[in-house]
Amino acid sequence: MLGGPPARTPPAATRSTPGEPVTLPLIAVLNGPNLNMLGLREPGIYGAATLDDIEALCAETAEELNLAIDFRQTNAEAELISWVQECHGRAAGIVINPAGYSHTSVALMDALSAVALPTVEVHLSNIHRREAFRHHSYVSRVASGVICGLGPHGYALALRAIAGLIAADDSA
Ligand code: DQA
Repeated sequence: MLGGPPARTPPAATRSTPGEPVTLPLIAVLNGPNLNMLGLREPGIYGAATLDDIEALCAETAEELNLAIDFRQTNAEAELISWVQECHGRAAGIVINPAGYSHTSVALMDALSAVALPTVEVHLSNIHRREAFRHHSYVSRVASGVICGLGPHGYALALRAIAGLIAADDSA
């Protein structure tokens, strides 16, 4: 079991054929520091949506895609790394907005490399239009793909991308 708060959308048991339970693929949607402040935090850059709004959007999108999500936020680098590690053997993919740790954390990059799951990095803002120190992300080196600058919609796109990556892996 992952530590931290319980999954908001637990892997639902559905039935494809009578008698055969099917567990939906679980996607960890992990959010780094200060994203709990969305709505209040620099709305000119990050917009008015709160993290709860983004979670609701992810839940809606996941339902449409037949995915289960475990949506979390932490301000602590160690906790974020532990959550990534705990995805091994449990999650089918990771959507991550590492926030400030994108630009600083070799350890987070190493954890994502270690679990080697389909991973989409998301940023609400277009980090390439901002300060030079935001232009480099360690996480981008190990992510399957990166979406930035599209606000909360980026999370929905990331879930769609992960669904595609999982489907491609399954059919390989
Ligand atoms: C962010 C961009 C980062 O540079 C910043 O440190 C954040 C948020 C984004 O979503 O745009 O905290 O990841």
